[in-house]
Amino acid sequence: MAQRDAPPLSGYRPIGATVAQRADPDSPRDWRFAAGDGTRAEVALLAADLARVRLLPPGCVPAPSWAVVRAEAEWPPVAVRVHEGENGTLTLTTDAIRIAIAPAPLRLSCSWPDGASFAEDDSALGMGFVAAPGPQDIPDPLLPAGSVRCSKHLAPGERILGAGERTSALNRRGERLVFWNSDPPQPHGPDTRAMYVSIPFWLGMRGGRAYGIFLDSVWRTELDAGATHDDRLTFAADGGDLTYYIFAGPTPAAVLARYAELTGHMPLPPRWALGYGQSRWSYFPEEQLREVAAGFRSREIPCDTLWLDIDYMDGYRVFTFSPRRFPAPGRLIGDLAQQGFKVVTILDPGVKVDPTDTTFSEGLARDYFVRRADGMLFTGVVWPGDSAFPDFSRAEVRAWWGERQRVLLEAGVAGVWDDMNEPSLTDRLAPDGDTPHGATLPLDAVHRPEGADGPALPHRAFHNAYGMQMARASFEGLARQRPAQRPFVLTRAGYAGIQRYAAVWTGDNVSRWEHLRLAARMCLALGLSGVPFAGFDTGGFWDDASGELLVRFTQLGAVFPFFRNHSALGTLAQEPWAFGQPFTSFCRAAIALRYHLLPYLYTAFAEAAETGAPIARPLAYAFPDDAALADVDDEHLLGGDLLVAPVLEPGQPRRFVQFPAGAWVDWQTGERVLGPVRRRVDSPLDVLPLFARAGAIVPLGPVMQHVGERPEDPLTLVCYLGPEDGAEATGRLYEDDGETPAYREGAFRWTRFVARRAGSSVTLRAEPERGAFAGAPRAWVAELHLPYGGDARQAIAAAQVNGQPLDASACEIAPRRYETLLRLALGQITAPFAITVRLA
Ligand code: GLC
Repeated sequence: MAQRDAPPLSGYRPIGATVAQRADPDSPRDWRFAAGDGTRAEVALLAADLARVRLLPPGCVPAPSWAVVRAEAEWPPVAVRVHEGENGTLTLTTDAIRIAIAPAPLRLSCSWPDGASFAEDDSALGMGFVAAPGPQDIPDPLLPAGSVRCSKHLAPGERILGAGERTSALNRRGERLVFWNSDPPQPHGPDTRAMYVSIPFWLGMRGGRAYGIFLDSVWRTELDAGATHDDRLTFAADGGDLTYYIFAGPTPAAVLARYAELTGHMPLPPRWALGYGQSRWSYFPEEQLREVAAGFRSREIPCDTLWLDIDYMDGYRVFTFSPRRFPAPGRLIGDLAQQGFKVVTILDPGVKVDPTDTTFSEGLARDYFVRRADGMLFTGVVWPGDSAFPDFSRAEVRAWWGERQRVLLEAGVAGVWDDMNEPSLTDRLAPDGDTPHGATLPLDAVHRPEGADGPALPHRAFHNAYGMQMARASFEGLARQRPAQRPFVLTRAGYAGIQRYAAVWTGDNVSRWEHLRLAARMCLALGLSGVPFAGFDTGGFWDDASGELLVRFTQLGAVFPFFRNHSALGTLAQEPWAFGQPFTSFCRAAIALRYHLLPYLYTAFAEAAETGAPIARPLAYAFPDDAALADVDDEHLLGGDLLVAPVLEPGQPRRFVQFPAGAWVDWQTGERVLGPVRRRVDSPLDVLPLFARAGAIVPLGPVMQHVGERPEDPLTLVCYLGPEDGAEATGRLYEDDGETPAYREGAFRWTRFVARRAGSSVTLRAEPERGAFAGAPRAWVAELHLPYGGDARQAIAAAQVNGQPLDASACEIAPRRYETLLRLALGQITAPFAITVRLA
């Protein structure tokens, strides 16, 4: 533990000497600590690698969590060895962590089984709270009275990753971050401290190992990751209790897996939500939407979703359609459905104060809106003018809101886009136009989570959960009304656990080059914060895009989980064809690549849903041992096997790529690069630098105009085999019906593929792993990519499928500069199957 003099923090009361006690005399996993001044603390081991620590200032009771889905009693018993040392130090040891607790003063320190320590309390500051200033004290604005805090040691070279939606570089060391859902001042930049989504969960990386900390508080919280003192990390909440979790890892994947168990897994979205989406503020009247739809189909640019922004509503009243602009929404949406489009509509939390509007009058009559501290209805100005705000902390309000969505569903709307739910009171349309960005409900506005007669919860103690609970209302409403379909919700605001209800997009970016990098960073950080399904406004929201910028943005969007083009009122059109050729073709190619990758991408979604692993993974996540990769934020892995190095700057026909260890195969040329190495690669405007891990089998589908246009038939297994005898390649495929929640009851199928070289033959096997989903029969194609070094070309001497010879006409050999590509059309077969190719 770091030693230093008493802290110069006014009003801060670090917890001092405590008496330790087992919470349950028979259980070694739950400990209580009581200090003389009435402050209490708790340490509970929920799993071998997961501990919860709690500080309760005098009189404070722990608030129920909005994030955690698994109560303490639901965690299976943990084997904990307890050791009480002579100096009073209590040591709790599991297979994954050792927590040493010095009771006087109370200080915690963790270590991994080999003794290397992490998350050590700062010896002087530990955890504590800020007392109300006495008459002599000068209040410190950075230390609000009633705030709770914890300070820990930062080791030399330690990196802090994640911490929610962030615009700054991957490593947060040296920064002070605020968690307070905000519609930030425009445009946001690398220095913006608080964004729309707040997730106080981060990874500490020490010498290739990872641990995690999750501060579970929806108050305004902060993380000082060595900004004030280089070797000290402090996290704080403006009030309430201090509850935080320690994850022992020691890999980033292990931390995220546990975090997903604690805060919930992402459910699988409908498969169409992985397709490309076209949005604009706003397409209207309906003829314009029809034109956009026709624009995609006539140009053969794949697209699944069309988005209606606020102008579809009648005077911005939620749950209405403008009778003038969209007189027959059901017919419109039905016609678009015929062409394979889904329509998603925006919803804002602000309900127009208008006694003739049912949402308002019903909400008011039932007392469902947030009130001011003096009991009057709170109203704030958003799009429709004076608006009231539903109290989404209440179950019956969420249920009502979900039910109100029926208006949209009856018209055939496929999904809901929850916006401005920080909640934001910034009205860019207001005549005076200058409501400050970041304006929100008054901090003392009243929520009543337990119902109209229940106790009041001030907005300051609920703020960061507001958007998430709106998304929950949307999600649960969709699930209730359409039980046979998976809900799709997109949200701008969120808190830890938002992955259970919605995909997140990163809000109002700008059509500027700098914003490509910010977009990538924000989504990578969200992935490390338990939100796998994230994306950004492709093309940029504010300002005008250019052809080149749009192409690069589209290429970037194609390799992030959520892929939608969106732009603001008054900006140049930026549909993929808006800038003419060659940009249209280049955008089409990027979108087509997305559809080609769909089976692979859907598999990555399923993995994320099962394990909490990000879909777009920073290299530091996948290769924590490689210091050269620790700060790379302009490349990422899509799933486990594809390395993407999108171009984020103008006029860049070549860029440097940092290759991780292993061999990487250029998607276009087949050239193999042996990592770890930094190399320049070609990146002309029509190329998105993309590499497959040698040793991977990547399942690809046929390009379609929309997901489900026709069966995914044939499915191509692209095998990147090494040249050496015994070389192996592996891959997986996840399948289900893509639409219904039946996968939750086992209607899915994981298939595993293994290819192996043995002497002069190659075998490829497909083996069902798990799941009962049958699926329709389909044809398969095997593509064997064999590196070519200028020696004699390999050819196919004979090929067999399940022991039967494959006709020569089904085999194709394509000699390429760096590889020989053997293509085998296997016909209609079902796994398990095996093919053998004898090479000549
Ligand atoms: C907000 C949203 C943006 C939307 C606009 C109008 O700025 O972030 O996506 O287009 O409101 O609804």
